[in-house]
Amino acid sequence: MGIAERLEGKRVVICAGSGGVGKTTTSAALAMGLAAQGAKVAVITIDPARRLADSLGLEELGNEPRLVDASRFAGHGIEMQGELWAMMLDAKRTFDELIERLAPDEKTRDEVLANRIYQELSGAVAGSQEFTAIAKLFELDRSEEFDVLVLDTPPSRNALDFLDAPDRLTGFLEGRALKVFLAPTGLAAKVMGRGTSVVFSVLRRVTGVDLLQDLSVFFRALGGLVDGFRERATGVKRLLADPATTFLIVTSPEREPIEEAIFFRGKLREAGMPFGGLVVNRVQLDLVEGDADEAAAALDGDLPDELREKVAETLRELQVLAERDRAGLTRLMTALDEPDPTVVPLLEGDVHDVDGLAQVHHHLFADD
Ligand SMILES: Nc1ncnc2c1ncn2[C@@H]1O[C@H](COP(=O)(O)OP(=O)(O)O)[C@@H](O)[C@H]1O
Ligand SMILES: [Mg+2]
Repeated sequence: MGIAERLEGKRVVICAGSGGVGKTTTSAALAMGLAAQGAKVAVITIDPARRLADSLGLEELGNEPRLVDASRFAGHGIEMQGELWAMMLDAKRTFDELIERLAPDEKTRDEVLANRIYQELSGAVAGSQEFTAIAKLFELDRSEEFDVLVLDTPPSRNALDFLDAPDRLTGFLEGRALKVFLAPTGLAAKVMGRGTSVVFSVLRRVTGVDLLQDLSVFFRALGGLVDGFRERATGVKRLLADPATTFLIVTSPEREPIEEAIFFRGKLREAGMPFGGLVVNRVQLDLVEGDADEAAAALDGDLPDELREKVAETLRELQVLAERDRAGLTRLMTALDEPDPTVVPLLEGDVHDVDGLAQVHHHLFADD
């Protein structure tokens, strides 16, 4: 079954998998293909390679999808019937936007955004990217501006971090530590009431930073946002489990990514999240059938022996790789009970421009 057929009727496609397997590439090529077929598609990429970002026109700042100029596809065999919109996730800005949306009033918003503790914390939370990627996805889904949203996922070592993201922040906000701190008789009140603790006052004198004041303002303001966060997390979970949402598992045929893909598939099932298909990327295909020596011998008879031996050697090496990849594919197909994965071969050179994307797209959609 072709990938377009598998994704029929889906509004949110999340490309998950371990680092370096081709999630960003696949997301972009997939979005391009769905757009070519006539949909209005937005792809949220995360840290794409510089040249890939440039080739999609993402070099400008901005945390909203932008229409990729259709002229960029001219001459690459892509007939764009719909629209491809693309953005590069700005995690910190997404986090700020979230605060802006959730803050009950302007004063709270400004207090939080200007707060030093928030600035540190948001840098750290945004740094993990999983949370912000999902927050952005949620916003775009709500805007109802696009037929399809394709989400690339962060280069986390473990694809599972992504599934936990909605729980992590609410977990923190609902955790004991914060409750104790925020309670009227809690730590915040006590510390504030006592006036100046020695440590804080020394700190303030030495650094000029009133950490205590910052802390107290931060937690007071954040307290007003807890309900919003909780509601948001519920909405995000609903979106992830929606029948119109699906996860594509992207992997390469190497051992570790394969095992992670299998593990992730299990986790999706456990979490009741939809699985939309398997993309095996960077697969070394057989270059010749049968024996490498025979293939080399069948080359031009005028080829000097030395050169022919070199060709045979290379072919033999490639065949070993192809065999390894075939074994990997078999392992995946069996473990995932997936007889018909989408296979994208290892292309020559990196995929860093529209032409490379068009090639990946061609393989992704080959069965459609
Ligand atoms: N089919 C392919 N053939 C050759 N190179 C590829 C292919 N797919 C991806 N690449 C390259 O592999 C590297 C990792 O791809 P990327 O999409 O950034 O992976 P991820 O987002 O999963 O970390 C990039 O340099 C990319 O250009
Ligand atoms: Mg990536």
